[in-house]
Amino acid sequence: MNSKFHDNFDKFERVLNSAIRNYDKAKGLIGIGGRKGRYDDYNFEFVGGANDKLRIKHYDKSLRMLWKAEQHAPHTGTDFKDLTKDEKAFLTQAKDSLSVAEKKELDRYSTEEYKALINAHYTQEQKQAIVNVLSLIAHGEAYAWMVSAEVLVDAESTGGKAAVTMQVLEEAKHFVVLRELLLAWDCEVPRFLVWEYLVMERTLKSKGLEKFFGMNVLVENIAMGLFGMFGEMPGLEILKMFHLDESRHCALPVNYFDELPMSWWQKYSPYAQLRRLSMVLPAIPLLVSIEKDMAVLGVDSLEFGGSLVRKVFHMTDRVGFHMVIPPVVLTEMLNDAFNMYAKLTRKGHDYSDFMSSESVTGEEMARIEKEVFDLYRAGKKVTSETGGKILNWGRKVA
Ligand SMILES: [Fe+2]
Ligand SMILES: [Fe+2]
Repeated sequence: MNSKFHDNFDKFERVLNSAIRNYDKAKGLIGIGGRKGRYDDYNFEFVGGANDKLRIKHYDKSLRMLWKAEQHAPHTGTDFKDLTKDEKAFLTQAKDSLSVAEKKELDRYSTEEYKALINAHYTQEQKQAIVNVLSLIAHGEAYAWMVSAEVLVDAESTGGKAAVTMQVLEEAKHFVVLRELLLAWDCEVPRFLVWEYLVMERTLKSKGLEKFFGMNVLVENIAMGLFGMFGEMPGLEILKMFHLDESRHCALPVNYFDELPMSWWQKYSPYAQLRRLSMVLPAIPLLVSIEKDMAVLGVDSLEFGGSLVRKVFHMTDRVGFHMVIPPVVLTEMLNDAFNMYAKLTRKGHDYSDFMSSESVTGEEMARIEKEVFDLYRAGKKVTSETGGKILNWGRKVA
């Protein structure tokens, strides 16, 4: 080894390093490119720091809560081989200790038995209605997968990136598992409804962390609402696992912005506020499109929508994603609109407070949602009083 040569070579590397870094820094400063990877190799961290709090709340928790399709959806078991040897051995041992009746319960989900189970519980019309509604989410999961993969690039700090990485993994699992599940129902899976197409495309096209609004606040709440409604139905119990994941995804923006706050401009820019409102509005006619299918399942689409609107706006307010119209006012306006629609289309409709309805079923899922929404209640920013005043003024003018 020639140490003189190495000394010179190292010197050369240092000079080249500072030349290239400074060139990239200068380009970055005037906004014409520069370093793309938001990684701080000098401090062995991503830009934004370690942020262990976010890592523990999302990455660690996701790993603790990680569920496998081979165990929870064995009716698609021929297609999923995601259990480790140890997990498989544990399941077999657990099975050995069960009574005959319990074993039967655990075993009922072979593909053929699963189909027999759903055929025994649902008419063809109900099956198609379930597939129609759940397909909204299945298509949405494909977009959530793509959107979260892009958020991963934009999220700052090591903890932030670790948190979003788990979301990418979970959305991938949601899409592939939900796809298999719906295909087992032997029904036609419909295409995107245009309302959803608009929301999802606009979410994917949102810039940077603004994607948190379309995805984690709006779409994941819709998903959580539907999983919360379907998770107690026979043959759909696996949706409780999805519900659990989505509740964590819904909580991500508030935890993220607590650590790395949005700038004033990001919150209040008139363009961003208008764009957010224009993303929420196309989701409303979706309730009309699914009204027939929901009725087949004994659910009032407007009540489901009311529960959803309340939760979405609550979260919008808490995260600090301002919209041109305060969420409290918008909630009341939508309640009026829902009633107007019901009056026009339903015989003998009496004014109803759709926004106070609750769509979540089952104690466990209700507990999970309470946990997520209590988190938001704590930081409520727009008081109902102010909202009420603005609304009454608006009603007088109208
Ligand atoms: Fe998902
Ligand atoms: Fe999600």
